[in-house]
Amino acid sequence: MRTPMIAGNWKLHKTCSEAVELVEALKQAVADAADVEVVVAPVFTALTSVAASIDNSNITLAAQNCYPQESGAFTGEVAPSLLKDAGCSYAIIGHSERRQIFGESDEFINQKAHALAAADLGTIFCIGETLEEREADRMYDVLRRQVRLGLKGLDTAAMASVVVAYEPVWAIGTGKTATNEQAQEVHAFLRALLKELYDENVAAATRILYGGSVKPDNVDGLMTQPDVDGALVGGASLKADDFARIVNFQSL
Ligand code: 13P
Repeated sequence: MRTPMIAGNWKLHKTCSEAVELVEALKQAVADAADVEVVVAPVFTALTSVAASIDNSNITLAAQNCYPQESGAFTGEVAPSLLKDAGCSYAIIGHSERRQIFGESDEFINQKAHALAAADLGTIFCIGETLEEREADRMYDVLRRQVRLGLKGLDTAAMASVVVAYEPVWAIGTGKTATNEQAQEVHAFLRALLKELYDENVAAATRILYGGSVKPDNVDGLMTQPDVDGALVGGASLKADDFARIVNFQSL
């Protein structure tokens, strides 16, 4: 059985005090949520404040990025062990905004995956095709490449701490969510790919989240799909009520 995960990626939003205000409201709103892992990913500067707020709550903390070195002359970067020290249980890697805006390669993302595994930190590993790639029938090639290269060299034990997040680029921040059928089709493909690259157990145990315009009014249909194990939520995670409704999704 895969415990569903609902993760909020706050991106570049919220000061420390605003982040604490949001998570305090969220704490109340999701206090009764059971059998679901609730994760929030604030900006780096708000991590320790949010970590203090969620102590003894059912919310866990993620960072939005990491650097694949533990220390050294890497101005401006943050190491996995420092994220752990700040209270994080996960880091998000491979987000399409980092691939597109910051030019991150599959190889660099793979280094981050290994660094997170070495630091014993969970990984939320994002992949997804652009509209152009989907329309050119290259979607599955792109996803296969992202998974194969991004997870390269991670063994079965390390995969226990990896959550895959399928985020079609055309659905992020556009209000155009994938249909339930589109999400299920890709998630089933990804699960089959994990079986091919690893084995049946890894395929059955790995959570695959959907991300891209997940809202209170479409989460139930998405979460009803057999291979959709949760959601990575951007915009709607910035409002406690909306995010709480997503956390309290109803399988149809
Ligand atoms: P939106 O939910 O705003 O489309 O963002 C999705 C996302 O990028 C989460 O990582």
